[in-house]
Amino acid sequence: MEKTTVLYTGKAKQMWATDDPDILWVEYMDQATALNGKKKVQIDGKGTLNRQISSLLFEELNAQGFPTHYLKTLDDTTMLVKKCTMIPLEAVVRNFASGSFERKFKVEHLKPLVPAVHEFFYKSDALDDPFINNEQAIALGFADKETIDEIHAMSDRVNAYLKERFANIGIDLVDFKLEFGRLSDGTFVLADELSPDNMRLVDEATGNSLDKDVFRKDQGPLTPVYASVLKRLKESK
Ligand code: ATP
Ligand code: TYD
Repeated sequence: MEKTTVLYTGKAKQMWATDDPDILWVEYMDQATALNGKKKVQIDGKGTLNRQISSLLFEELNAQGFPTHYLKTLDDTTMLVKKCTMIPLEAVVRNFASGSFERKFKVEHLKPLVPAVHEFFYKSDALDDPFINNEQAIALGFADKETIDEIHAMSDRVNAYLKERFANIGIDLVDFKLEFGRLSDGTFVLADELSPDNMRLVDEATGNSLDKDVFRKDQGPLTPVYASVLKRLKESK
């Protein structure tokens, strides 16, 4: 399998076409962004850490029977995935209050949220990824009702799996973002990335952030933190 042309250069990954029209080559880059790309820094080693954490979690989800885009790992920073038509929604699930939710409602940091809160954000850099509700997403043609229900159900199942997976290594899964797409035959799959760039993780023992908040809040070097998450996941496989 060879990569052919760059299809898209995002903030954290580069997506390449391959000689198979249904397969994409994904390169995880050494780049960290926050504030919708306004804060941007090169961080050596971040790409391979995110690729490794993402591969490990996607492999586990595939083994559990979740429909995902993940096919296989090629090297340190590269994986092959099934090409999707992406649904342009960021599906956020929150188990504890943090980030924009905490600011919006001025609630106690890490207040437990029962039931877990589901939110959508419309994927649009030009509009700064605005919050969007179900009817807005349907009326604007981004997803139909069945797809919204599928995203909700799959996000709950992924949350149940990941919450327990991280709890078993002493880490609270605070919140995370998922993206979904459809394969050329219409199959609904979990796509994009599963890494500390897209989830908040808090060490139960110390209360320390083990995710991109370290970068957002300038709490020190990011790679040792991501490496510690990878190590804990690997040791508990
Ligand atoms: P953001 O960080 O807000 O998600 P981005 O576009 O900068 O935006 P990257 O992760 O750098 O994010 O880029 C990856 C892009 O590839 C995203 O637009 C994502 O929706 C898309 N993508 C992920 N998985 C697939 C797939 N299987 N098929 C097609 N596109 C995909
Ligand atoms: P949120 O608290 O809404 O945003 P912010 O981090 O800007 O205050 O984010 C909730 C979770 O979803 C958090 O783990 C980050 C993740 N997320 C993304 O990875 N990308 C996104 O575009 C959004 C909206 C959230």
